[in-house]
Amino acid sequence: MVKPRETLSEIEICEHGGGRRDGCGGGRDGGSRRRDKSRKIIDFSVNLNPYGPPDFVFDAVREAAAEISEYPDSDCCALRARISGREGCREEEILVGAGASELIRLVALSFVKKRAVLPRHTYGEYEVAARLVGKEGGAGVKIERVEMPGLQVKPEQVVEKMKNGDVVFLCNPNNPTGQYLSEDEVRQVLEEAERVDALLVLDEAYRDFVEKAFSQRPTPTQTGNLVVLRSLTKSFAVPGLRLGYAISSAENIKMMRKAQAPWSVSVFAQRVGQAVVGSAGEEFLNQTRRKIERSKKRIEEAFAGSIQTDANFYAFDVGNASAREVKRRLLRCGILVRDCASFGLPSHIRFSVRRDEENEELLHFLLEKEFSEKREVLSPLHRNAHHIAVSEQVRETNTLSPELH
Ligand SMILES: Cc1ncc(COP(=O)(O)O)c(C=O)c1O
Repeated sequence: MVKPRETLSEIEICEHGGGRRDGCGGGRDGGSRRRDKSRKIIDFSVNLNPYGPPDFVFDAVREAAAEISEYPDSDCCALRARISGREGCREEEILVGAGASELIRLVALSFVKKRAVLPRHTYGEYEVAARLVGKEGGAGVKIERVEMPGLQVKPEQVVEKMKNGDVVFLCNPNNPTGQYLSEDEVRQVLEEAERVDALLVLDEAYRDFVEKAFSQRPTPTQTGNLVVLRSLTKSFAVPGLRLGYAISSAENIKMMRKAQAPWSVSVFAQRVGQAVVGSAGEEFLNQTRRKIERSKKRIEEAFAGSIQTDANFYAFDVGNASAREVKRRLLRCGILVRDCASFGLPSHIRFSVRRDEENEELLHFLLEKEFSEKREVLSPLHRNAHHIAVSEQVRETNTLSPELH
């Protein structure tokens, strides 16, 4: 029997949020649970736009259906033309992928050689992607973690770690902590990347949810040392579609394109991309940001300012309780959150900002006396009658089937 590459036995499949509808439960995402069609859950474990997808996405899907008997355009020409208008860069500086996930793998495959530098608590797919390219029988890729004092990414500490040839993954805003690095902070890291000749991969999957985000476009001098990743799946709530893009120098993009499987971006994804990248999409995102900012204000006021985020999700410290246990208890009440153990934060849960009436539902539990005083035990038994009525109403409008323990 031919054995698989040794590198694979050392790699764990990365955990993600979300409950799977098929309930087959491979443990890869949050949904490895028994299926129970009779109940609905509110899913705070994925950081999607709670107001999407917009109607024009469905029109694009219907149009694309007429094209399924042909292969998609592997170069995504029409979509890249639109993205270049949005981003102000040339079409050859853009690579469209099946979500930012595919692009993370392509960056690693194309550029990681000896070392990848990552913040201590960040999105798990960077490490998986970097380790996958490890050498057989020799030294694998070294993963250098940058400490995060107070759960903050400090650019000066990233800079301190960087060496020639490194690939540095920074998630901005960071998943799961929600910290958004300023333009100056990113510039500091980028300047060091140029100085030592390293590659900075800036994953901006949640940028569309940040109020007053800056636009990080590689300038001609920076392009060789910077790859920017964008995801359209969160912004427009279409994770089932798989769509994202990378921006870098034409030369870098050409190399990543070589590593990409042909036709990885379906006709549906390309059509939807063309529909959302443009004025209708920008208007939808502007409205979303306004609503999310309002909701965040309410959430932060409810916690008397003790929690904060720059993104559309919160990392929430459950104190002495185990996040896994809190998640389990919330799930019994029809609320799914992400426990952050796989991020190296076993006493944190992550929850996204959803519509106000849904947020109220979660707040009700997190603010319970028993829980907020000790942050030890969540007791679902303290729900009052009014709240139960709201819950039922909210769940009526939700379609995700529950996958309860
Ligand atoms: C930081 C980050 N980058 C990338 C992704 C993947 O995005 P996509 O759905 O576009 O593949 C995720 C998904 O959770 C993420 O959290």
